[in-house]
Amino acid sequence: MEKKKFYITTPIYYPSDKLHIGHTYCTVATDAMARYKRLAGYDVMFLTGTDEHGQKIETKAKEAGVTPKEFVDKIVEGPQGVKDLWKLMNISNDRFIRTTDDYHVAAVQKIFKKMYDKGDIYKGSYKGKYCTPCESFWTESQLVDGCCPDCGRPVVDAEEEAYFFRLSKYADKVRDLLENTDFLQPRSRVNEMVKNFIDPGLEDLCVSRTSFTWGIPVDFDPGHVVYVWVDALFNYTTALGFLNDQYDDYDKYWPADVHFVGKEIVRFHSIIWPAMLMSMEMPLPKHVFGHGWLLLDGGKMSKSKGNVVDPYILAEKFGVDALRFFLMRTFPFGSDGNFSNELLIQTINTDLANDLGNLLSRTTAMVGKYFGGQLPAGCKTWENPEPFDTDLIAMASALRDAYESQMEAYAPHNALAEVFKVIQRANKYIDETAPWALAKDMDANGKRLAHVLYNLLEATRICGILLSPFMPESMDKLFVQIGASADVRTWDSAAVWGALSETAAVTKGENLFPRIDMDKAIAELEAAAEAAKKASLPAIEVEPQLTEQVNFDTFCKSDFRAVKVKACENVKKSEKLLKFTLDDGTGTDRQILSGIAKYYKPEELVGKTLVAIVNLPPRKMMGQESCGMLISAVHTEKGEEKLHLLMVDDAIPAGAKLC
Ligand code: ME8
Ligand code: MG
Repeated sequence: MEKKKFYITTPIYYPSDKLHIGHTYCTVATDAMARYKRLAGYDVMFLTGTDEHGQKIETKAKEAGVTPKEFVDKIVEGPQGVKDLWKLMNISNDRFIRTTDDYHVAAVQKIFKKMYDKGDIYKGSYKGKYCTPCESFWTESQLVDGCCPDCGRPVVDAEEEAYFFRLSKYADKVRDLLENTDFLQPRSRVNEMVKNFIDPGLEDLCVSRTSFTWGIPVDFDPGHVVYVWVDALFNYTTALGFLNDQYDDYDKYWPADVHFVGKEIVRFHSIIWPAMLMSMEMPLPKHVFGHGWLLLDGGKMSKSKGNVVDPYILAEKFGVDALRFFLMRTFPFGSDGNFSNELLIQTINTDLANDLGNLLSRTTAMVGKYFGGQLPAGCKTWENPEPFDTDLIAMASALRDAYESQMEAYAPHNALAEVFKVIQRANKYIDETAPWALAKDMDANGKRLAHVLYNLLEATRICGILLSPFMPESMDKLFVQIGASADVRTWDSAAVWGALSETAAVTKGENLFPRIDMDKAIAELEAAAEAAKKASLPAIEVEPQLTEQVNFDTFCKSDFRAVKVKACENVKKSEKLLKFTLDDGTGTDRQILSGIAKYYKPEELVGKTLVAIVNLPPRKMMGQESCGMLISAVHTEKGEEKLHLLMVDDAIPAGAKLC
């Protein structure tokens, strides 16, 4: 039988800064959902990626002195970049799209043209307010205290010739979609969208810009670039191969089953996105789920607020699985939650070290101690079960279905709560059955003891299967410890009590979730955050200024001149020296040697106008004469010496005296 399809996406991230734990939250949630669906037998497509165009990136690249593409390449592909982070967090995406990928760019141009040809995109003039950090246009009436309603930062006036999308034309259809279907979830977000955006009247949307260039060009009207949200939203379809030959999965996976998105971008996904799809006459995604924010001290985490929590530090300190688990277990997925390191450590200690960790280590230790790591055949059944036997077995047997309905409702926190009810029940069962008391008389109670331990292994196995989408690596280790073979790690077997072999080889392995010393860990985290903050600052040091004064006439005796580099080469057998042939305006070439080979390639200096002092006595270096010295600016950056040759305006002629 052909597998059922499931297509799930995360938002594509702006590679404008290093990602923080808030971004990680959304991607981990999507990953857990994708892994759950694969476990449940679906053919899953899980897409994530990066949203690389727009004015914000253009501006940041300019500040960094690199091209926009160089800028995003570093954040997407570089060390501790987006791809690195997803690898670290064990994200199982099937595909990764970058909106700068050629196939996406070409497809978006075709999409824009289609909507234009249809008359849904037309040319007009845009007057309004623009929030640069959010890449969002706002009308006067949408501003809050004159600022961007999303981020609260100031907006700027913008007026330019622009293309518009007839969003107004689709207002009724979008209203119907929101009000009368389960398209947008959780339901509480529907009212917000209708009241804030549809009731006041949907205005047509400005979908091109001319005031910057870092975007997808409108191919039939040079000078215009496609509005970044139009470019970004269609990623969900181009990454499947829509209007391109890069992939061939559009018919297979579109429409998406669900887009997971943060609450501040629900507007784009639940109003603009369906309207554009309607214009394109494409099927609509089945669901958009707007999750809440992780807050820090009550406010949204963001780089610009300087309160970013670094997932690298947290994962290194507590382990990837513990971090993944914490994010999903603690915060109801549709609501905001307050992040704190204390809460993280508390959750790890309570749920993982105490509840799950203890269940696993006590059970495997007892199978080892009392039965040498293998229970006897026949231990699965017991003639006259006690009420607590029946209770544990009933709860564990019903767990998979309870878990499934929570996962289907996009409530991973509730699914985990169901699992932990069974884990807690199993720990209580240990107290109720007191295996150590049974073990005192193995002749009389050995069979009963084996049955009790089998029940504990079974409960652990079922919980392990259902926790595996959240903590894949740790659950693989758990399965090894309880001797669960591949065929009893499956979704089907999670609903079958007694699937584990009675004589499975049980080993008490490493402690999967060590207890964390709260005070010590907090102190270390604070130190690590402090160190990371320091490292991210360009610690620039310059030499202190001299206090000893120089006589004016003495100063005037130094003859500084503008010189032009006619030729420049490395001095043979020297790692340090460059040899310059310079035009100093006298008509005779001047040769200067300079120890700057580690800072410049000779070819990049040819043609430059530099500054030299020309009346120093000639010196010999490596057998060659140097007549004068080139002037540089020097400083120290994070302990490393940096040097920049003083380069001046090329309009200054060779030989001009500097005074
Ligand atoms: O919005 N808590 O990209 P982005 C929870 N490029 N989620 C958070 C968060 C926090 N503190 N901070 C950020 C964009 N996020 C667009 C998407 S999709 C076609 C284009 C979430 O990098 C945020 O809510 O600003 C969003 O869903 C995601 O991270 C990416 O944010
Ligand atoms: Mg954002």
